[in-house]
Amino acid sequence: MSTQSAIKNVTLTTLQGIKARGEKFACLTAYDACFAGIASSAGVEVLLVGDSLGMVLQGHDSTLPVTMEDMIYHMHCVKRGNKGALLIADLPFMSYASETQTLENAAALMRAGAHMVKLEGGAWIENTTRLLSERGIPVCAHMGLTPQSVNRIGGFHVQGRDTEQAQAILEEAKLLENAGASVLLLECVPRELAKIVTDSLTIPVIGIGAGPDTTGQIMVLHDVLGVSPITPKFVKNFLVNSKDGIPGALRDYVAAVKSMSFPAEEHCFN
Ligand code: KIV
Repeated sequence: MSTQSAIKNVTLTTLQGIKARGEKFACLTAYDACFAGIASSAGVEVLLVGDSLGMVLQGHDSTLPVTMEDMIYHMHCVKRGNKGALLIADLPFMSYASETQTLENAAALMRAGAHMVKLEGGAWIENTTRLLSERGIPVCAHMGLTPQSVNRIGGFHVQGRDTEQAQAILEEAKLLENAGASVLLLECVPRELAKIVTDSLTIPVIGIGAGPDTTGQIMVLHDVLGVSPITPKFVKNFLVNSKDGIPGALRDYVAAVKSMSFPAEEHCFN
């Protein structure tokens, strides 16, 4: 079967419309032209050139070794294959430590084809978020489990489990929305917290390991295809039951997100 549900140039307005209508959108990581083409043709609305490439492509045990050169190279590849998805690129570890560095690196990713940049952090990225968004660079703020801080956190653990931490995540998410963030990404937080944050913000919220109530869901491509060496609780292999190989698996993923059958209870932290 070769049915393709290609999407027409997804923009921030498209995502805001989806949130306003109470619908869901699907996001996926992509690192090359081939998979960017298959995923966007399957109806995935947002492709993230994630610094997870350091782990799934390069074989590192964290995202810390990923460089701006790596990100720009993969951004160029994804842009060439993309068929209308909104493209987000990660600012890698230590690439947004100073104002000048942030502006230069974000501009380099936008020139390479990104429509938005993603950076990890809470209150401490408030000024950076304002700096970028005031200059026309949309920001996706990544909160909850932030893999670039894995050494400070002490491992890849669920965040926001106690009331104090959950309250801090909610307050800092509001702070970043006020600073101009266009999208929030929440990784590995209890589903109840993700729902409260999503309902409290006007911007779309993308979740991974954050339950079914966020506006969008994101997964790492290699997890959807069941080829990652580790399988966290929130991951589902969509290739295993696909009737049409990889394109079918990605269409099934999109359908499952939109119908809210994914993530199911077993993929959530409570
Ligand atoms: O780098 C990445 O792929 C990510 C996702 C896990 C959300 O940040």
